[in-house]
Amino acid sequence: GTSRIGLIGLGTMGAALALNMANNGVSVAVYNRTTQRTHDFVDGAGELADRLTATESLEDLVAAIAPPRAVVLMVPAGDIVDDHIARLRPLMDKDDLIIDAGNANFRDTIRRAKAARDDGVPYLGIGVSGGEDGARHGPSIMGGGDGAAWERVAPILTAIAAKHDGTPCATYMGPDGAGHFVKAVHNGIEYADMQMIAEIYGLLRDGRGASYDDIAALFERWDGGPLQSYLVEITAKVCAAKDPRGAGPLLAVIEDTAGQKGTGRWTAIEAQHLAAPVPVIEAAVAARNMSALKDRRAAGEARFGAGAQAFDVPGDATLERALIAGKILCYSQGFDMLSRASADFDWSLPLPEIAKVWRAGCIIRSAMLDDMADALTDSDTSLMLSGGFANRLEDAMPALRDVVARAIAAGHAVPALAGAVTYFDTMRTARGTADMIQGQRDFFGWHGFARLDDAGRDHHGPWVD
Ligand code: 6PG
Repeated sequence: GTSRIGLIGLGTMGAALALNMANNGVSVAVYNRTTQRTHDFVDGAGELADRLTATESLEDLVAAIAPPRAVVLMVPAGDIVDDHIARLRPLMDKDDLIIDAGNANFRDTIRRAKAARDDGVPYLGIGVSGGEDGARHGPSIMGGGDGAAWERVAPILTAIAAKHDGTPCATYMGPDGAGHFVKAVHNGIEYADMQMIAEIYGLLRDGRGASYDDIAALFERWDGGPLQSYLVEITAKVCAAKDPRGAGPLLAVIEDTAGQKGTGRWTAIEAQHLAAPVPVIEAAVAARNMSALKDRRAAGEARFGAGAQAFDVPGDATLERALIAGKILCYSQGFDMLSRASADFDWSLPLPEIAKVWRAGCIIRSAMLDDMADALTDSDTSLMLSGGFANRLEDAMPALRDVVARAIAAGHAVPALAGAVTYFDTMRTARGTADMIQGQRDFFGWHGFARLDDAGRDHHGPWVD
């Protein structure tokens, strides 16, 4: 065969990725479980069809690719990936490469990478962010697995990736599951960014009684300032959208129950495994779970009365600063979690490079990430303590505190923003209250505690004779 690469799975993301590669001069052999879809895809590719080869079986697909081969899997995460690997390997040569570009759980990627290593075959697990548009015109790519295999396909991946001032957003993060882990944390932060925005939206809608158009205008304005980001930009557009079935605002007819495929939840679960505190991300996951309990919320409102009362919502500039503070604290937690995982999994994750790879193409891309990349390059302390961000946080915290305090007093649920305040206060309290936890643990379980004047944990209280 002569195709430079193969791609399996012509769903939204797979199809967009194949077109992106073809558009960048890369010939791609494509395969989809339903053959009709494969032919429809290639037939509908216009002038790019020349660079696409439709194949009807995995055998055909492998035969259509020039060795040493590389095949990208863009299929739903889970067993389907294992299934494809099991069917592909026997058809491939030793140095042929399989690349899982789906949203795999990084623990699965570690397992698959290990199996590949044992078999002496190359394997990559890469996180791809940016939705359909990103996949088609330039996603952010977080690579993990066999370093030499990454080098082999890096020219293709950097060609199709988003560019930030000319720098491709495609970076090798480390061995086995490193790429998919970084993608998971990206999604955890994505959940948190979205939730904090939704909470501010709620204060404007229910607290201030602002119109959807006014809220849209405000977010559009913020997108021109320090909060400039893809998520703030689309928030303005979602607020301004009209119901295609009527003249009213679209948001007014959208069910308030959030879906989730699981990547943000994985981040919260892994944070617990790592003992890495990410309360803003955890709050965002919990908020999605609570949103799904529509009936229970309705029963709660019937029993206790509605929350989210109208109140004197702080001014726009204060809300903006509150969101800035929340964002800094959330990212600080996310990067701390990455650094913790890097140590635990022996990955040497390049934190500044992670901030850079998120600057374009992905869902959480924002102006602030550019500054974060600099801050993480210049200091090895937590983001919230690093020069510029510590100053910004100091400036913005009073706003966040004011917004959260007043919101809570008026019955508004602001779990992510409140989690950010609590995190801030915890992490600037040198002497906290865990002395009590340790006293209790020692009382009922003789677990021992360290003393301020003696760090060994073998001290006990006078609980027994
Ligand atoms: C991205 C997104 C994407 C994600 C879904 C939303 O980076 O492009 O994070 O990978 O899977 O768009 O995920 P949920 O269904 O969990 O909200």
